[in-house]
Parts: sequence; C-alpha cells; structure tokens
Amino acid sequence: MTEKILILPGDGIGPEIVAQAEKVLTYLINECGLKVTIEHGLLGGSAVDATGVPLPDATLAKARGSAAILLGAVGGVAWESMERALRPERGLLAIRAALGLFANLRPAVLFPQLAAASSLKAEYVRNLDIMIVRELTGGLYFGEPRGIRTLDDGQRQGYNTLVYSEREIERIARVAFDVAGKRRGRVCSVDKANVLEATELWRDVVTNVAQDYPAVELEHMYVDNAAMQLVRAPKQFDVMLTTNLFGDVLSDLASMLTGSIGMLPSAALARDGSGLYEPIHGSAPDIAGQDIANPLATILSLSMLLRYSLAEIKLADKIGLAISQVLSDGLRTKDIHSAGTRCIGTSAMGDAVVQALASLS
Ligand code: IPM
Ligand code: MG
Repeated sequence: MTEKILILPGDGIGPEIVAQAEKVLTYLINECGLKVTIEHGLLGGSAVDATGVPLPDATLAKARGSAAILLGAVGGVAWESMERALRPERGLLAIRAALGLFANLRPAVLFPQLAAASSLKAEYVRNLDIMIVRELTGGLYFGEPRGIRTLDDGQRQGYNTLVYSEREIERIARVAFDVAGKRRGRVCSVDKANVLEATELWRDVVTNVAQDYPAVELEHMYVDNAAMQLVRAPKQFDVMLTTNLFGDVLSDLASMLTGSIGMLPSAALARDGSGLYEPIHGSAPDIAGQDIANPLATILSLSMLLRYSLAEIKLADKIGLAISQVLSDGLRTKDIHSAGTRCIGTSAMGDAVVQALASLS
C-alpha cells in the first residue's frame, strides 16, 4: 500500500514555506522513486475560517490515515481575540494530543556556512549539534485545572497546572536515552526540581530510567542554568531532555545559535513512529505573502519525516546535502543573509534546493 503524507499549510507564512517543501517532495516522488501520495488539509486559523473550528474532524480523519504529517505553522492576529477554544494554537495542541505525539525532537544543528549568522561568535558554535527532546503532550500546556477566574474581591486570577505522571516522564526519558545512544551518549535532563515538585519527580524518574542505559551518561541541570549554559558554552550539550514548556523556550533560544529560527525543523512522534513534522518557528504574519520567509526549516522537517516515519534514510540525507550545497553556493534568504552572499526569496530557495537535489543524483 502506498503511504499517505498529509500536508497542512496552516496560516501566515505556512502556505509559502510548505509549498517549497512540497516541491522537494514532488521531486523525490517523480525522480527518486519515493512511493507516497500527498493529501492536503486544514489546521489553525485557515480551518477556523473555512469550517468554524481549528482542528476539523476531516483533518483528524486524514491525519489518522496518514503515515506522517507535514505542517507549516498556525496562528495570526485575526484569530487572537477569539474565544480560546477557537484559536489556531488550540488546533495544533489538539492534534498533538489526539495523535499521541508525545516525543518532540528539535535538533539545533549549525550548518558551517552559517557560522557568521549565529548570534554567538563562530568559535562557540562550530560543529554545534544539540538534540532537544521536549515532552509534548503533558505538563503545563495540558494540566487541569486551568483558566481565568474572578476572585471574591472582584480581581481576576489566571491559573494553570504543572502535572507529570511517572508514566509520562518515563516514556519521554526513554526516547531521550535511545536518541543519545545513537549520538554522543550524553543526556542533560533540564528541570526546576529545586522549586517545582512536578519536576522533582521528573528528576527522580529520569534517574531511575538511566539505570537501563549504562552506556549513556546522565546529568541534571536547572532550567535557568541551562538557558545560561546554552549561550555560554552550547557545545557541552548532546541531548537535552525537558518538559513541554521548558522545551518550547529553550528550543527558540537554541535556534539563534544556528543562525536563524528559520533553520530549525522538528519531529513530533507517537509511540508507533507516526509523526507530525514542522519548523519550530511560528506563522510570522508580519512577513506573510512577501516571498521572504526562510523555507529551509520546513524542508529540513520533510527530511526528518523521511528519516523517522518512512525510514527513507538516503533521501533524508540527500535533502541535507542539497541544502548544504545551496548554502555553499552562497544563496540565502533574508534572515540568514550576510555580506558576500546572495539574498533570494522563499520560492527561489525552494527551486534552488530542488536544483541541488538534481545535481546530486
Ligand atoms: C512550538 C510553538 C507552539 C508551542 C505554539 C504555536 C502552540 O511555539 O511548536 O514551539 O508552544 O508548542
Ligand atoms: Mg515555540
């Protein structure tokens, strides 16, 4: 049976960047023998506009019937004032929860050609290769009770709940240790165990899981220190294992070390290996429709999709090589542009990657 890939362009720059990844995917289908079929669906604000909800049943049904999903980004000003349940972000959180996508892999890898675009001096980021393993379906993002209530004195009070069960911690920890075993063999678990009980349990469970992985070295770090260490000496990290909220924050931070948030892909994986792949950046409504967004994080997300959900390792590697070639040729989108390189648009960048692919084969 031919596997299906579901493409969800989303909002803002989503459709533009996803179109570039789709060019690459189409090339792989037509020229490299990749056997998949492509479907499209709605998620986020565009789904609210078309159907009234951010995650339509039809999208969820298509998602369940797909081997993997490629997403652009969701969100935008138009939907910010809507009631919470109708906001685009809710659609993303709901699809992560509905498909059990608990394991979020966010690699922060520096392409050497982009060393000058990093916010840190080149010597701090040379060969940087960090894998952030973020828990994605629990913690503060999903804990109940949550809401905004009015107190007796008439003041409003906002509240959320940070909650993690042993089972949730154990399964994400195992992902991190497995990943580390195939890399440099080190896990740094990031928590706030000195203040938050939920992450005191996190530290305890991670320590226990580590006993099953004698070849992997475990270190614990408080999140405030981890943020500092990421900009002080980022190369000390191999795999960073952390909670949903801390992972959200630290992955944006780590992205700037690699030159631009426009370069960072991600994989959100379920236990069965199916997954949703998306750039870690948002929908950037301020630059939507201008053909200036960087599509490389989305194209790299497609590479992760091929690697993790379809076991097409050669094709996944090939995309990485093609991007490397394009960067070596001096082509840059605006966010990573520097003196001596050529600034091109979103669509031209997609074309350049396809051309580089063709020159590799
Ligand atoms: C991300 C995003 C999402 C998150 C938003 C859009 C809900 O910031 O994937 O990092 O917070 O998880
Ligand atoms: Mg984020």
